[in-house]
Amino acid sequence: MKDISELLGCKYPIIQGAMGVICNPEFVAAVSEAGGYGLLATSFENDPGKLKAMVDAVKALTNKPFGANLMAVNPKAVEVAALLVEAGVKVVTTSGGSPKVLLPYLKERDIKVLHVVSNVSNAVKAAAAGVDAVIAEGSESGGMQGFNGASTMVLTPLVADAVDVPVVAAGGIGDSRGYKAAFILGAVGVQVGTAFIAAEECIAHANYKNALVSASEIDTRLMNVEWAQFRVVATPLVEEMMDKGGPSKADFSAQGPSMEAAWVQGDLEASIIAAGQITGMIKAVRPVREIIEEMVS
Ligand SMILES: Cc1cc2nc3c(=O)[nH]c(=O)nc-3n(C[C@H](O)[C@H](O)[C@H](O)COP(=O)(O)O)c2cc1C
Repeated sequence: MKDISELLGCKYPIIQGAMGVICNPEFVAAVSEAGGYGLLATSFENDPGKLKAMVDAVKALTNKPFGANLMAVNPKAVEVAALLVEAGVKVVTTSGGSPKVLLPYLKERDIKVLHVVSNVSNAVKAAAAGVDAVIAEGSESGGMQGFNGASTMVLTPLVADAVDVPVVAAGGIGDSRGYKAAFILGAVGVQVGTAFIAAEECIAHANYKNALVSASEIDTRLMNVEWAQFRVVATPLVEEMMDKGGPSKADFSAQGPSMEAAWVQGDLEASIIAAGQITGMIKAVRPVREIIEEMVS
């Protein structure tokens, strides 16, 4: 395989990481139109009508390929998978748990599955279970992650040595140097999250984007939320929460609606904003095509 674009059918081997409410259909379509692989995030969205509408909205905006992310820990993951497949999705990434429960359904329907892993052992298990590729996500990544993660620099070559399926590197990739490094480490593609939040087409609020532009590489924190950790920008709210030992599982779950208030409406006092350490490299808000083309240049 030349690179992961062959499996995905897109121009460049660059997957836009799933990022909750901020990867809406318009943004997913913009990434795919620019030659990357746009990805809808389903998180815990189980409403059949809304899921179908999201897929249809992307299709109305682009005829380029795109996929969707499935949270394996969602108790309704198989039902969500069925809805996406029915709506025409051909590739899914699975994260936040084992892909095993989803694989029989997806493979029977010839859906390509890329599973997100944060260690070698889970990569080996996923490959043995039959995924088409693994996404090795290092601990510098923004958003949710497990405990005791390893950095992309360490994880990517170890996973590439351990599995015989294609490996995509995620975490800390923001420009052409990070992109090239991923290939040298043994990956055949990259997944990018944080750097894409600062794309003009992303619906993240200007306050979120500006926080990324002003944050340095040491301005993120790994916040313990009992069942997982979140890499977030060290806003005053985050510092306050961490001073108190971090939010409990219940308090964090209650953040669901306020996350939208922070991410999309820009109220940074309402909730955390997730970002990876590569935020230190973000100096401006740019069109997504410019971000992608600089990366592959
Ligand atoms: C705001 C935000 C939300 C995210 N939400 C999800 C998600 O719903 N599902 C998922 O698999 N990964 C999620 N991620 C991880 C990204 O898909 C991607 O793997 C990660 O951001 C790559 O690292 P980077 O941030 O250094 O580019 C999220 C990341 C961010 C920054």
